[in-house]
Amino acid sequence: MANLPSNPLEQPLPDGVVPEPLVVRTEKQWLTIMAAMLVVMMTVIVVTGVSGALHPPSNVEVIDPQTLHLKGEFVESNLGTAVEPDGSVTVRLIALQFDFVPGSVRVPADTPVRFRLTSADVIHGFLLPYSNVNTMVVPGFVAEVRTRFTRPGKYEMPCHEYCGLGHHAMVGHVIVVPKDRFPAQGLLERTCDATE
Ligand code: CUA
Repeated sequence: MANLPSNPLEQPLPDGVVPEPLVVRTEKQWLTIMAAMLVVMMTVIVVTGVSGALHPPSNVEVIDPQTLHLKGEFVESNLGTAVEPDGSVTVRLIALQFDFVPGSVRVPADTPVRFRLTSADVIHGFLLPYSNVNTMVVPGFVAEVRTRFTRPGKYEMPCHEYCGLGHHAMVGHVIVVPKDRFPAQGLLERTCDATE
């Protein structure tokens, strides 16, 4: 003990205390790693956003949720898949606790598809895996999303906004059929002029 320097800063550190230069160096290393992770994550967001054409839904249209079933484009007879004059397809759906109406829709592959949705009660969500379709469905507003399916198959559309006790069971289906098989299935009987 008698050999210790009189200046306390020069005395050896007690056991378990990490010397300051080591702390500084380690913190700098972790800061660099954190900054690199942020750069990687921001790059992934930008690249997937641009390449996958992801963007926040920008459609603002209001609608009275209390009269959906009485008048306007969301009356029951006008729901589901409709073929537009230009050959594109519009799908109209109502989200409500705890179902999509209709619960299953057919659309052709390799065709522009426009989904128009609204809610009859609370906020729901609409998401189609493997596509750019992902929107909230807010009562009083019409959500519109456009996509194009390249692969035929059955896509699940889960509600992804918690909407009540049955939320976990709120799932609909989009069945994408090959384009040449679409008209043959008798789905052209209803067109967009059923609106209003
Ligand atoms: Cu509808 Cu969750």
